[in-house]
Amino acid sequence: MTDTVDSLRIDDLPIRDELRGKSPYGAPQLEVPVQLNTNENPYPLPEPLVARIAERVAEAARGLNRYPDRDAIELRTELARYLTRTGKHPVAVENVWAANGSNEVLQQLLQTFGGPGRTAIGFEPSYSMHGLIARGTGTGWISGPRNADFTIDVEAAERAIAEHRPDVVFITSPNNPTGTAVEAETVLALYEAAQAAKPSLVVVDEAYVEFSHRDSLLPLIEGRPHLVVSRTMSKAFGAAGLRLGYLAAHPAVVDAVQLVRLPYHLSAVTQATALAALEHTDTLLGYVEQLKAERDRLVTELRAIGCEVTESDANFVQFGHFDGAEGSHAAWQKILDRGVLVRDNGVPGWLRVTAGTPEENDAFLDAVRALKKEQSS
Ligand SMILES: Cc1ncc(COP(=O)(O)O)c(C=O)c1O
Repeated sequence: MTDTVDSLRIDDLPIRDELRGKSPYGAPQLEVPVQLNTNENPYPLPEPLVARIAERVAEAARGLNRYPDRDAIELRTELARYLTRTGKHPVAVENVWAANGSNEVLQQLLQTFGGPGRTAIGFEPSYSMHGLIARGTGTGWISGPRNADFTIDVEAAERAIAEHRPDVVFITSPNNPTGTAVEAETVLALYEAAQAAKPSLVVVDEAYVEFSHRDSLLPLIEGRPHLVVSRTMSKAFGAAGLRLGYLAAHPAVVDAVQLVRLPYHLSAVTQATALAALEHTDTLLGYVEQLKAERDRLVTELRAIGCEVTESDANFVQFGHFDGAEGSHAAWQKILDRGVLVRDNGVPGWLRVTAGTPEENDAFLDAVRALKKEQSS
């Protein structure tokens, strides 16, 4: 009996059928000198901000006997101010909602607008969690097409939307793992197609937009109540450990997600920390400028080494082209053998590297040079 219990596996449990045989999200978390695999910001928060967080968290700690502000009004007001300042579109507290990472924002959207009997579409390769969160919320997943250069094939996407009539459409700009930005005209065309087909909710995932050469797609929410822009403090704000994501949309969408959010989902400690980080926005956006320059250097140097590189608007670069899935996995291992962890996203022939500090990027470029030398000898 003990033996049976000890060897019990997930699939032996009475779990939901659609979860059987599936794997959880799992980017490797390996202890290696150079970790460039999860699109984190390589710069630790500056000391004055760390001190401010300690101050604000101490203040919050004095009230931890009480539940936090359920509506996170102060935080949403500051996020609205940040979006208004940087997004070229005025946004008010009623337009903004926040949760524990943009993954939770996306989950709340799918719990509200997706769910059993409903479907969501994404244009792949794209952020794998869109499909995984769909599965977790019982939403059917449709994998839409992309062009060979990883831009969205607008006509094929319109056809897929007309055919499947999904309830939720994901557009990731800049896209992960390719780095590809999406034109405003593409979003508008897909929004129109989605409204004609259903109407459905269109989610523009802008997790990396601060690193883009282009403006945010935020102004597109004006007059489009079914368009949502989702954002995160995990990348540009260098606060992946904080777990703070947010969305901007018509106030009715913000009201709708409150139907599924857990009460007091955003802890007082999280709210205090995020507010402290927002006080230091300008310093943190300064690091973004450095990272953009490093991203551009990676593109140039990888091309000089003889790699193919997908145009990137994010804090990472997709590079190759290796010989299919086996070739990219072997290259991933060889780069890892030199102490540099990059990401094999399962896009055959391609790998993804996050822009790190100049020293980390040098170590990565040295590893790729050595790999290329080995391959050509
Ligand atoms: C496109 C995209 N969206 C959303 C997220 C989720 O970010 P978080 O939950 O840390 O806000 C990520 C993280 O890598 C991402 O790549």
